[in-house]
Amino acid sequence: MITLHANVNDCRLIDLPKIQNRAGNITPVQGMEDVPFEIKRIYYLYDTPGGESRGGHAHKNLHQLIVAASGSFEVTLNDGKESKKFYLNHPYYGLLIVPGIWRELQNFSSGSICLVLASDKYYEDDYLRHYKDYLNFIRNGKLN
Ligand code: TYD
Repeated sequence: MITLHANVNDCRLIDLPKIQNRAGNITPVQGMEDVPFEIKRIYYLYDTPGGESRGGHAHKNLHQLIVAASGSFEVTLNDGKESKKFYLNHPYYGLLIVPGIWRELQNFSSGSICLVLASDKYYEDDYLRHYKDYLNFIRNGKLN
């Protein structure tokens, strides 16, 4: 039986490269260099209405880096025991979220863009969408 030991303290802010000149800034993100996984997918959340929250799930195997590419929002992480809240408001910081962590994204500023770099393609099977299933998964390594 697989038992996961995902911990919010395994998630951390990564200070991404920032190349600056008169014409503005560039932040490049390379898989296995700037983030500890190969990047297989990117997606972005935008036009998020004020007061909405997103997330509300965990992933079984997916690693992600979440970046406030524009504007700001909050990310609350939970590992079934401990919670940790991050305020993302700079495009050169990324929040690394390891597998097995419940996340919620809230308080999006108007016009914000949440960029997500992910270690794998989209698989609905990788999601744990109910907190009860999540707790069963991390405690028993299975849904029951
Ligand atoms: P979901 O990941 O639940 O969004 P959030 O956590 O931001 O609220 O995804 C919402 C919908 O979009 C869901 O029906 C699955 C679909 N989706 C894809 O088809 N491909 C993707 O890469 C992502 C992230 C979502």
